[in-house]
Amino acid sequence: MSKVTIDNITDTVIASLGQNGDVTERQRDIMTALLKHLHGFCKDVNLQHNEFIDACMFLARAGAVCDDKRQEFILLGDILGVEVLVDMLSNPIEGTESESTVLGPFYRENPPVLPKGASTVQTHFDNEESVHFEGHVRDASGAPISGVTIDVWEDAPNGLYENHDNDQADYNLRGRFETDENGHYAFRAVRPVPYPIPDNETAGELLRFMGHHPNRPGHMHFILSKDGYRTLVSQIYDADSAYLDNDSVFAVKESLVAKFNKAPDGIDTDLHVDFDFVLKAQAADQSIAAE
Ligand code: BEZ
Ligand code: FE
Repeated sequence: MSKVTIDNITDTVIASLGQNGDVTERQRDIMTALLKHLHGFCKDVNLQHNEFIDACMFLARAGAVCDDKRQEFILLGDILGVEVLVDMLSNPIEGTESESTVLGPFYRENPPVLPKGASTVQTHFDNEESVHFEGHVRDASGAPISGVTIDVWEDAPNGLYENHDNDQADYNLRGRFETDENGHYAFRAVRPVPYPIPDNETAGELLRFMGHHPNRPGHMHFILSKDGYRTLVSQIYDADSAYLDNDSVFAVKESLVAKFNKAPDGIDTDLHVDFDFVLKAQAADQSIAAE
């Protein structure tokens, strides 16, 4: 019988994989890499037993915070830059297609379906700046794509999403639009402002442990979807917002930063944003496989 030592513990655990049950190749790859990195991490920092217990208690507290409104582990992954990394691994960019970024925790299914050019604003704020968003959705060859469903959502001028603020109307600043026959979309909304991600529970503990702040730059969220194309989850960032260079969740991509210009004559909002998207065609068999 071999005795466990500090030098053989990693190989010993890896050798146990699949000994008492089937594991797929993917499970074996994931567990082997996880064990190497986790054991390597413990050795690198010379992790002490009290610190291991602290980490277990932290994870238990994070689990206790989760409910149907708050997924603390995704938030922890965001703060560590893991969600944006996994998104880039899952949606590699080839050619001209638009970059994706994190979904975040504030999306709501079934937003109000609105006609092109309509406003998502139901509750007004004294300090709001109105914005007309528009642009074209095209494929990689430059051909317009009609009938693309575009869900949008953002925080209000007080920095709160409507489902976290009893003073805003249900589904305020959320909407579902569609591109017309020229691939054109348009809607009116307000200028998104920077806001802190939820930092009252373990997410805040982690941010303080890392010496980082909770704030995100002002951004508008988008999900573009149409059969035959890869669904694009993305955000447009205000080029003049604070925190563009030090987003708490590391989700800003240069190609997603847009100037909020003064609206030209003929547009009845304060500001105007012109932003085009390029969607990647997805083979039919891939769409079916994903269903
Ligand atoms: C958001 O943009 O809504 C968001 C993204 C990641 C964590 C928290 C919020
Ligand atoms: Fe957001």
